[in-house]
Amino acid sequence: MTRPFYVTTPIYYVNGAPHIGHAYTSVAADVLARFHRLAGDDVFFLTGTDEHGQKVEQAAQAAGVEPKAFADRVSDDFRSMADAMAISYDDFIRTTEPRHIKGAQALWQKVAENDAIYLGAYEGWYALRDECFYGEDELIDGPDGQKVAPTGAPVEWVKEPSYFFRLSAFQDRLLAHYEANPDFLGPHGMKREIVSFVKQGLRDLSISRTSFNWGIPVPGDAAHVMYVWFDALANYLSALDYPDTSAPRARFWPASQHLVGKDIARFHAIYWPAFLMAAGIELPKKIFANGWWTVEGQKMSKSLGNVVDPRDLVQEFGLDTVRFFLLREVPFGGDSDLSRKSLIMRNNIELANDLGNLAQRTLSLVARNCGGILPERRTLTEEDTHLLNHVAVLPELMASQMDRCALTDALEDVWKIIRACNAYIDHQAPWALKKTDPERMSDVLRVLVDALRGIATMLQPYMPQSMDRMLTQLGVAEEERTFAALETPLPGGRQLPAPQGIFPRYVEAADPA
Ligand code: MSP
Repeated sequence: MTRPFYVTTPIYYVNGAPHIGHAYTSVAADVLARFHRLAGDDVFFLTGTDEHGQKVEQAAQAAGVEPKAFADRVSDDFRSMADAMAISYDDFIRTTEPRHIKGAQALWQKVAENDAIYLGAYEGWYALRDECFYGEDELIDGPDGQKVAPTGAPVEWVKEPSYFFRLSAFQDRLLAHYEANPDFLGPHGMKREIVSFVKQGLRDLSISRTSFNWGIPVPGDAAHVMYVWFDALANYLSALDYPDTSAPRARFWPASQHLVGKDIARFHAIYWPAFLMAAGIELPKKIFANGWWTVEGQKMSKSLGNVVDPRDLVQEFGLDTVRFFLLREVPFGGDSDLSRKSLIMRNNIELANDLGNLAQRTLSLVARNCGGILPERRTLTEEDTHLLNHVAVLPELMASQMDRCALTDALEDVWKIIRACNAYIDHQAPWALKKTDPERMSDVLRVLVDALRGIATMLQPYMPQSMDRMLTQLGVAEEERTFAALETPLPGGRQLPAPQGIFPRYVEAADPA
């Protein structure tokens, strides 16, 4: 029986162009999706765009086009960014699609039927930039003495009739859920913040607006559109054809992992579970928040002109170097900095030297000294077995890291083995065995090919293109690339293709080296 695994990225606002921060969560979710596919699970990977709300309406106005036409253009750009990053999504949802509107309205209706929505009037602070309501006590002093949101976003006093969600009624149930399900929220820092925020007391949440139109009409009261977060969060269900619980896709609920940025943890860890509880729907299994990227130590912003389009990086450094860097640089969950120097160093040291050279040295010896024929696997020495045993436990080890969203730790597990392989090749010195002990030379090369096969198989989720090339060079057929296939050694005697370098060293044009 294959297990369903449903992973999501946030759906991206279409009021701005895609940048490296957006690509980051998508690459992380892609690694999880690819990992689970290779592990034999039944995967559904969702991404998409969040297209309603006042912010989008205003951005469209500024561009002088209708909101839908504006959303079409930017949504296409997000899709093209996802494709350029090899994001293997199974579906790309747009909140302007009829299927989403239907799902979001059905969810609203369910919550309303269960008496968790009432009509009132909203009066309070709203930060358009965050699409978020704030309490007076949450505001802080801004640079010019004005009150601003805790995120620094300007706030405005809003007064209008509004539907409210009885968030306050869910405080205890939420806290009980966090307590009973220690893995529900991660990383720990995010969980601590959420728990302490909820403990301070939750106010009912305004979930409709009347002052603009670009949104999903509230069922039964078209003078209101849904608050953009009620609308947006519903995407995780509408993509599964909610409310049709007999649809084939319904099997993917509850979601296995919602990946989000830390700035939107509150919406996912408090509002979303409360909406679901109110609707009587099972909660997702895990919500994990990733950190934020700065660029060369500075916050990315249009005014600084330092917003990085991931496609430019891919053009210059290659897709897999960028994907690798994003997940390697800082333990997943923490904040990271995109520094050109660090990216080049990681490419040159970890990819070109540690892994690329290991494969190149091994495969060129097989080509030169074994006529390019994969040696048989024969008797193993203690050292051989030791190395191969380490490789053999990788699938299990990495699976438990994936469950914790420890995407960087999982990479480190692989790099430990790569370093062990480098120590092994230096110590065994197969190049010196050709004359003295050609049989041992073959055995050593075979051990290295097997270790590399394990490494390349396990790295496919992170670096799909280059690991595809590496596996081809190692003589591994397409159908031999799953984790389960690792248990069956390749038959000796295969003719391997001529080896070719996989990770070129990157040399800066102005670099005297
Ligand atoms: N539309 C909402 C999400 C709705 S999900 C039901 C939204 N969109 S967003 O486009 O503003 O942000 C999407 C994601 O990009 C968030 O997870 C956010 O954390 C992430 N990032 C935006 N800038 C970022 C960085 N500089 N670094 C890392 N991630 C960043 O919020």
